[in-house]
Amino acid sequence: MEFSLKEKWVLITGASSGFGAAAAKAFGACGARLLLGARRMDRLQQSAEEAKKAGAAEAHIHFLDVTKTESVQAFTDWAKEKINGLHVLINNAGGAHGQDTIAQGKDADWEEMIQSNVLGVLRMTRAALPLMARDAGATIINIGSVAGRTAYEGGGAYCAAKAAELQITKTLRLELFGSGIRVSTVDPGLAETEFSLIRFKGDAAAAKKVYEGTNPLTAVDIAETLVWIASRPPHVNIDELVIKPVDQAAVGKVFKRTSNR
Ligand SMILES: NC(=O)c1ccc[n+]([C@@H]2O[C@H](COP(=O)([O-])OP(=O)(O)OC[C@H]3O[C@@H](n4cnc5c(N)ncnc54)[C@H](OP(=O)(O)O)[C@@H]3O)[C@@H](O)[C@H]2O)c1
Repeated sequence: MEFSLKEKWVLITGASSGFGAAAAKAFGACGARLLLGARRMDRLQQSAEEAKKAGAAEAHIHFLDVTKTESVQAFTDWAKEKINGLHVLINNAGGAHGQDTIAQGKDADWEEMIQSNVLGVLRMTRAALPLMARDAGATIINIGSVAGRTAYEGGGAYCAAKAAELQITKTLRLELFGSGIRVSTVDPGLAETEFSLIRFKGDAAAAKKVYEGTNPLTAVDIAETLVWIASRPPHVNIDELVIKPVDQAAVGKVFKRTSNR
């Protein structure tokens, strides 16, 4: 039987755009209570308003930079005052910076990718675990990527970061054995969000080109998947879920149409 998320506390990192913002709305539509974190407060506010319109019982926002331990601690201290048991943690904050080969790679890009996608997940999980109810149905979902499973040229640090996320998820699954807390990784392929805009450092034309002529996943596709995972009966753990658009048979094999068909 489907597990109800009504009035359950759900913490989403990176809720200011893309998957995180869509997840806020989707969990909101289930009547959940939301704790939303990211760095862009105006965008977070927008996510919270949309989630409330969709049906969220509550939606609270707080600045969060997962690359800083103090920021993660401040966020969870704030959260602790509001909630009576965290039910779902979604470690979504992250992304790719640049697409240089390793020979051309920039320290700042590498550091940002490892900090947000790897250390951010570790820090956030460490800080949130004491808040998590050891209840049936409690769930941690980490957002990985097909990049964590397949290397590609120009993906060195990002592929490494998402491969690390997969191993963190597997480690947590072992460490939380017997706690009742479920642990999942959702590993999407090509999805149209602000991901490419960030990767290409604001170059909108380059970002647009990535999705041209193909039908990528949407943020809503991922948000619905996250809700589905968290609403399985409490004895069911979706360990690993790889989700790609039909037009993407493999990481570098994306079908492009010359005209819409
Ligand atoms: N789109 C894809 O094709 C795709 C495929 C596979 C996996 N993913 C992964 O999915 C996740 C979400 O990405 P998206 O596609 O939704 O892209 P997006 O629209 O760029 O969203 C990324 C989110 O992460 C937040 N974020 C980034 N660094 C952060 C930090 N240091 N502290 C707190 N929040 C931070 C951003 O918020 P602020 O900038 O406001 O802080 C934003 O809300 C990422 O982990 C990404 O690697 C994306």
